[in-house]
Amino acid sequence: MNLNLKKVSLTILIAVNMLVAAAPSFADDKIVALTNSCGACHGENGMATNNDWPSLAGQKPGYLLAQLNAFKSGSRQNILMENQLTNLSDKELTAIAKHYSSLPFVKAEASAINKVGENVRSACLSCHGKNGKTVNDTWPNLAGQNKGYIFQQLKDYSSKKRESMLMNVIANELNEQQMRDVAEYFEQIGSVQ
Ligand code: HEC
Ligand code: HEC
Repeated sequence: MNLNLKKVSLTILIAVNMLVAAAPSFADDKIVALTNSCGACHGENGMATNNDWPSLAGQKPGYLLAQLNAFKSGSRQNILMENQLTNLSDKELTAIAKHYSSLPFVKAEASAINKVGENVRSACLSCHGKNGKTVNDTWPNLAGQNKGYIFQQLKDYSSKKRESMLMNVIANELNEQQMRDVAEYFEQIGSVQ
């Protein structure tokens, strides 16, 4: 590389660094304002108050962002989530996903594990992880998620109300009792993460 080229690339590098540094970061008060309305259902700390609704704390950031985009575009639909995200920009959605992902997931371990559910989950291990925690940033953790919510998602994947190439096939192979059992199992194995 000749000297001039080196100089040019250095200048570009510095310019890029400055751009990154100048990108607006989300101050705490801005995130509080952005997520203020979400707390009513998803809890102030991202732990849902109703068993049929999902906790968001500690969930994978890439997965959360994909779901936010899906609700915003209408490819995933739910009456309670309707219009929640209409006015939010891509940057704001990214900040929200990061925020919830960074919150600690806190739940006590259950005493007795649903053994039937434990057997069913052998079909889930490869993607959702041995302990219900996945290594893939764009796939969801299931450990500790509310069983009412998990059950409903399995029903929705099975009927294709909620679309996912992978989950539509997998859920379709479960009967309703297996869905309930595996949902309970995943809720129960949620301990302090
Ligand atoms: C009135 C209640 C309500 C409010 C307010 C609400 N949500 Fe939700 N949210 C839900 C319900 C119910 C679901 C589950 C939808 C389904 O079954 O598909 C959900 C699902 C989600 C999911 C998908 C979680 C997953 O594991 O796939 C995300 C992400 C989410 N909401 C983010 C938000 C954000 C961010 C806000 C605020 C800007 C918000 N929600 C406001 C009720 C609500
Ligand atoms: C081949 C990989 C794979 C396997 C095996 C798999 N899943 Fe999934 N699962 C995914 C992916 C990817 C998603 C996200 C789909 C989407 O975008 O809606 C998902 C989403 C889910 C969700 C929604 C979570 C939420 O927060 O909304 C539930 C519940 C779920 N899976 C349960 C199961 C269960 C139970 C099994 C085993 C019976 C299983 N999955 C097996 C890949 C897999």
